Amino acid sequence: MLQMGSEKANLPPHVLIFPLPIQGHVNSMLRLAELLCLAGLDVTYIVSDFCHNRLLTHTNVSSHFARYPGFSFQTISDGLPDDHPRAGEGFVDIMPAIKMVTGPLFKRMMIEKGCFASSGARSPVTCIIADGVLSFAGDFAEENGIALIYFRTVSACSFWACFCMPQVIEAGEIPLKGHGMELAVKSVPGMENILRRRDLPGFYRVDDLDDTTFQIIKTETQQTPRAQAVILNTFEDLEGPILSHIRKHMPRLYTIGPNHFHLTARLGAKATETETLISSASLWEEDRSCLDWLDSQPPKSVIYVSFGSITVVRREQLLEFWYGLVNSGQRFLWVVRPDSIMGEAGGGKIPAELETATKARGYMVGWAPQLEVLNHPSVGGFLTHGGWNSTLESMAAGVPMLCWPYFADQTINSRFVSEIWKIGLDMKDTCDRVIIQKMVAELMHARKDEFLRRADAMAKLARKAVTQGGTSYNNLDSLVEFIESTII
Ligand code: UDX
Repeated sequence: MLQMGSEKANLPPHVLIFPLPIQGHVNSMLRLAELLCLAGLDVTYIVSDFCHNRLLTHTNVSSHFARYPGFSFQTISDGLPDDHPRAGEGFVDIMPAIKMVTGPLFKRMMIEKGCFASSGARSPVTCIIADGVLSFAGDFAEENGIALIYFRTVSACSFWACFCMPQVIEAGEIPLKGHGMELAVKSVPGMENILRRRDLPGFYRVDDLDDTTFQIIKTETQQTPRAQAVILNTFEDLEGPILSHIRKHMPRLYTIGPNHFHLTARLGAKATETETLISSASLWEEDRSCLDWLDSQPPKSVIYVSFGSITVVRREQLLEFWYGLVNSGQRFLWVVRPDSIMGEAGGGKIPAELETATKARGYMVGWAPQLEVLNHPSVGGFLTHGGWNSTLESMAAGVPMLCWPYFADQTINSRFVSEIWKIGLDMKDTCDRVIIQKMVAELMHARKDEFLRRADAMAKLARKAVTQGGTSYNNLDSLVEFIESTII
């Protein structure tokens, strides 16, 4: 067995942080890494070569993290060729490649590098914080006597609905096969009167239970309780009732979110510079010209539109959104990610009326500085896919949401945004210009004051959680104490 303990008593704990290498997971676990660096821990952050190259090209992570001498990046292959889209339909290739290629590479790397003890300056890794869908990292921790903590980057409601997959199957409430989507789901404790089948996480939308992604998510989620602790990027006031169900299975559960908000609060207390406190973790180049355009728009007049890093749309869907936005009469700032349109994006001419109206009231970019956009005074609404980072970032900024979920946890997040937290609308399973126009107008006009009031109240709860004495603030301190206690 590898000698894992810190041979030199005065060295800080050395945490290995390993996210699933896609934008949403990389973002929230890099924010966790910095929070732990601020607490004085040493951190090795493992990221795919693909993501690391993108981070070095499009962000200042290197200079930003240089301030933490105990921090280092470690790169590893994600098992896919550089030109693989890693988005849309291609997403299904990621998990099998990670298991088949990255898993064995990781184990070999850990042995060969002596668990990243570097020239005595750092102890070998004393604790592994792995993305909860990377069970091979959990295997290695157990085989080598290293403390294991899982981090799930999704909402508690999504995690819990996936953890209950055996019960949902037992109750015959899936496979969905696309019918009965309006039927109530009764087999997820705490959500009996909330979920229809269409609101279950997108992983459930399979024709048969042998679906590869379904089986991987089920297996990975079911093994979560093996970890000594679990971290969720959420806060007690947001998902308390669901968290109490989860704690029956995983009692040592730390909610430390919203991560980005928590990091801003902790840095704010330390940083004196006027620079943007958090380093961007964008895998695409951010077009900052949209901030200048926002500066010339009236307060709360713009709806920001972005569907995250994996969503892809067909050209006809793009046109439905474009007509819906233009016909709503609202100003809009729209992120059309370079790889987000299936087929020939440029195919076919853009109708003149769309071009004219967009020149008058819209602005389009390939990727935006989303945190700054959501906190800009001109932004009054967010047409989002409901990815968990985007949902939390919108919540913390007090911006109401119109959700158009694409897959994964987004379908349940959108249901909670509209029915439980009541800070927006759910436009699930439709893509029609008339409905888009109507719902954009409802969010930004007819019910604007109601949604802004509720969103502001939620933002205050999020701020309370991450401020000294708040639940997320205290939980992070407890997490650090637990990590310190794991040194052998
Ligand atoms: C993925 C899944 O889709 C999501 O459902 C899951 O919760 C996390 O992993 P993604 O689709 O990328 O994430 O969405 P999201 O979780 O919202 O993360 C996107 C991140 O990219 C956010 O932190 C957002 O601030 C950032 N972003 C997005 C930008 O910086 N600029 C943009 O233009 C768009």
